[in-house]
Amino acid sequence: MLPVAELHIHIEGTLEPELLVKLAARNGTWMPVLDVEELRAQYTFDSLQSFLDLHYGNLRVLKIEQDFYDLASTYMTRAAAAGVRRAEIFFDPQTHLANGVPLEEVFGGLTAALTEGAKEHGISADLILCFLRDLGPEAADAVLRASLPFRDSFIGVGLDSTELGHPPALFAGVYQMAAAEGLRLVAHAGEEGGPDYVRGALDQLHVERVDHGVRSMEDPELVARLRDEQVALTVCPLSNVALRVVPALSEHMLPGMLDAGLLATVNSDDPAYFGGYVDDNMAAVQREFGFGDEQLARLARNSFDACFAPEADKQRWQAEVDSWLAARAARAAAGIQAS
Ligand code: HPA
Ligand code: ZN
Repeated sequence: MLPVAELHIHIEGTLEPELLVKLAARNGTWMPVLDVEELRAQYTFDSLQSFLDLHYGNLRVLKIEQDFYDLASTYMTRAAAAGVRRAEIFFDPQTHLANGVPLEEVFGGLTAALTEGAKEHGISADLILCFLRDLGPEAADAVLRASLPFRDSFIGVGLDSTELGHPPALFAGVYQMAAAEGLRLVAHAGEEGGPDYVRGALDQLHVERVDHGVRSMEDPELVARLRDEQVALTVCPLSNVALRVVPALSEHMLPGMLDAGLLATVNSDDPAYFGGYVDDNMAAVQREFGFGDEQLARLARNSFDACFAPEADKQRWQAEVDSWLAARAARAAAGIQAS
């Protein structure tokens, strides 16, 4: 299995229908649909907003620390099977606060599962607190302040939810506060928003990494800058198909991004909704674009380059990618079918 870092994964987006049904029963939460197949059948979307509406509704089943533990612990087990060595995991505290869940329950459950997963699966994992951009900058400021008592439990901040109409510049102040706290900075930009959103994230928020960023490809000057500065982009191919950012995987920008010399990585976004985890995304682009081992290894190396783990860990994982590639080459030379 190719070792990778997963840098764009919303823990709430790993809520599979099976766990949703279990948590609703455990907590006595009324939900309009509580059948696994029926839930899955609803998961077709025509835009980011159509997904978010359904997704936020489902999150009402998350009530207590144990629920957040179960959610993240299930993800860690699945991530281990996907070859994940490092996970930088988004979470949306504002959603849970709005559902009446105190931050203690959210942080308690998530951090316990990450600590446990590190021991059990050898995965290094950290949390990135995301602001819901459609709730505006004052709400973002408030949730960051409310989360500072848990400062040791997260490594960075991000920006997600409805992109159009909520440009990065609005959040310059709260990102400045996050930077002063020593937090790492990322933001969703260039998913539904155009190249201007990516520029805004770089220039106004000073992000170190751009989540999605695929619409940067519409602007050659921006592409040149992303290449020259080697800004990491956390691309989510199956998500982009599911939310109609691209009409089909065959038309995805990923090959063009790699050809342009960008530091693109492959990630799953919300795997319970978009057709798979990071390994599924890797397999999909491998199949669609005929990527060989060298290209898969490049994507894995990019993911470790782009991650916020200590340098020694990054080098160890990069060496694992080298070993994976060497083993694949040896097998090919021996005429053994790749697996
Ligand atoms: N974009 C914006 N907000 C989100 C996403 C996304 O892809 N996934 C979960 N929240
Ligand atoms: Zn996302």
